Amino acid sequence: MPEIREEDLVLFFVPSWGRRYLLHIRERPSFSTHKGIFSLKEALGRPFGVALRSDRGEVGYVLRPTLEDLLMLLPRRTQIMYPKDIGLTLLRLGVGRGMRVLEVGTGNGNFTLALSYFVGPEGWVVSLERRRDHLRHARENLLRALKILGNIGLLQVEETTWPFPDGPLFDAAFVDIPEPWKVLPEVLRVCSPGGPVGCICPTYNQLERTGVEMEALGMVDIEALEVLYRKVLPREGKTRPHQVMVGHTAFLIFGRSTVASREGER
Ligand SMILES: C[S@@+](CC[C@H](N)C(=O)[O-])C[C@H]1O[C@@H](n2cnc3c(N)ncnc32)[C@H](O)[C@@H]1O
Repeated sequence: MPEIREEDLVLFFVPSWGRRYLLHIRERPSFSTHKGIFSLKEALGRPFGVALRSDRGEVGYVLRPTLEDLLMLLPRRTQIMYPKDIGLTLLRLGVGRGMRVLEVGTGNGNFTLALSYFVGPEGWVVSLERRRDHLRHARENLLRALKILGNIGLLQVEETTWPFPDGPLFDAAFVDIPEPWKVLPEVLRVCSPGGPVGCICPTYNQLERTGVEMEALGMVDIEALEVLYRKVLPREGKTRPHQVMVGHTAFLIFGRSTVASREGER
């Protein structure tokens, strides 16, 4: 059974107030909350799942963080892509071991992290970001979550001047920037024909413009959608949805490039 080590990133979960924290025990040997102080170093050498009691008698658990925990709890400097949107996007892009994926708009590094996880050590992810400060922050997040950036390349780019030769360098691509339509021709230039391409757009206006550009570029199999996520409270005799839900995060749009769209035929 794996033991908890000082260098592990752990999820600390306190059920009575439903809060989760992502912590390094080395950085936080003791953790103060309004429910008392937890001595996290007592978990060292114990298995994940161990319960700790605060000096005020509250119980918290030291758990192994899942990818979803990391995505939700890493520090944020930009709008992020949420797990509900990431899940479907990975399927639509066909992301799996050994794939080469291009991302435009690194932001917080959230989707980069998910891509890195799913392409595995034989694949690679190249993520392009305009702002150096965002790139620095994403790098910190990725290092915190993964320790090394083995299969990730982070590149600072200006709008559409990308340092790639012509050719099918990537199997799939995803764009999360405010004006995806501006970079789509460049995306198609460097992606394999037939490869899936997706974009995320917070508003209908951005979605419409992106869809129109995909059509104009000769892309096919275009579909725009929204993923709705509603939590349910399972309780004996009164199971029902939560009263509060996140009504909207963003729309997704996917399409496939073709030989004609790669060659810039309109
Ligand atoms: C919403 S954030 C991306 C969030 C990211 N998908 C995540 O899950 O953490 C959008 C990012 O795109 C960057 N950006 C905007 N225009 C860009 C462009 N033309 N090329 C590259 N990055 C761009 C912004 O600086 C910002 O960091």
